[in-house]
Amino acid sequence: MNQKRVHNFSAGPAALPLEVLQKAQEELVDYRGAGASIVEMSHRGPEYTEIDQQARDRLRRVLGLTDDFEILFYQGGASLQFLMVPYNFNYGKTADYINTGAWSKKAIKEAKVFGDVHVAFTSEDSNFNRIPSDEELKFSGKGEYVHFTSNNTIFGTQFRKEPVSDGLPLACDASSDFLSRPLDINRYGVLYSGAQKNAGPAGLAIVILHKNLLAKARTENVSSMLSYPVQVGTLFNTPPVFGVYIFNYVLEWLEGKGGLEAMDRLNQEKAAILYDEIDRDDFFYGTAEKGSRSLMNVTFRLKEESLEKTFIEESKKADMSGLKGHRSVGGFRASIYNACPKESVEALVEFMREFRRKYG
Ligand SMILES: Cc1ncc(COP(=O)(O)O)c(C=O)c1O
Repeated sequence: MNQKRVHNFSAGPAALPLEVLQKAQEELVDYRGAGASIVEMSHRGPEYTEIDQQARDRLRRVLGLTDDFEILFYQGGASLQFLMVPYNFNYGKTADYINTGAWSKKAIKEAKVFGDVHVAFTSEDSNFNRIPSDEELKFSGKGEYVHFTSNNTIFGTQFRKEPVSDGLPLACDASSDFLSRPLDINRYGVLYSGAQKNAGPAGLAIVILHKNLLAKARTENVSSMLSYPVQVGTLFNTPPVFGVYIFNYVLEWLEGKGGLEAMDRLNQEKAAILYDEIDRDDFFYGTAEKGSRSLMNVTFRLKEESLEKTFIEESKKADMSGLKGHRSVGGFRASIYNACPKESVEALVEFMREFRRKYG
């Protein structure tokens, strides 16, 4: 079968490692001689139980998670975690939130349903084009946790490292840079990510909880599906089976590539190739402040805005997809997550050069 593959720069759902897709393709109809697909079997049977355990073990190894952490594989996307984090940890209390974009704002909105929210910083006045320095963060002094969005998918900004947090545990929406680099994991009380950028198909969210924060979760009069203490350590309901199955292979691929440090080096290399091209002259320009630039979502525009439509049209003809920027930034966004090969970034740079030669 002749299968076409484009250079995929989609922000999410996003490119997955080809090897993973091929493995799933081979096994989809008959999972390892079982005579049924993995999506057709009980989630309490031996096949899925093995996959679930492997994925947990691999994730622990990759992130260096000790027994102090619990892992949840959850449905409902990152958006459900916007709600679950405050539902469990900020019920009638105060939490500090760093507002660096549209997803942070959504997390803040949900948190306000349950408790007080203190906004420790916002970059909304500059259309979220930057990440705060540690000195700019002004904490409430009475928070339960400090919430931040590690990578701002829409605005193309990323925290270079974890922010200071006034001694509080970090609560992090890591949806668009999960598993892209090593983390100072012991600073996190809760870290969550939708799978559909770096980890697998949509429908799975990965939630990592530190037992110290978990011990403070609300337990009285709770809804079971929303309660972390009810959910940890058990398959409470049917998990997102296919998502975990693919995630397990993505983790295997990641370990094969050398883990998070190797992935970080590769991601830095890919992003540098692209930012260098953007900065070459003033034909293109980056929309995020240089010190805040994301290694995952590279947002840029043409100085001559009237050419942007042509750029998108011609990129499609050159077998590149997903380059149109989010409407709140305009221009272009190249999402170059873990599974986006360096060759795709090089192809994009070559296309940009050709475009400059033609129209510059
Ligand atoms: C940083 C970030 N947080 C949250 C979300 C929402 O994720 P979900 O659709 O899984 O709820 C996205 C989706 O693109 C995102 O990029």
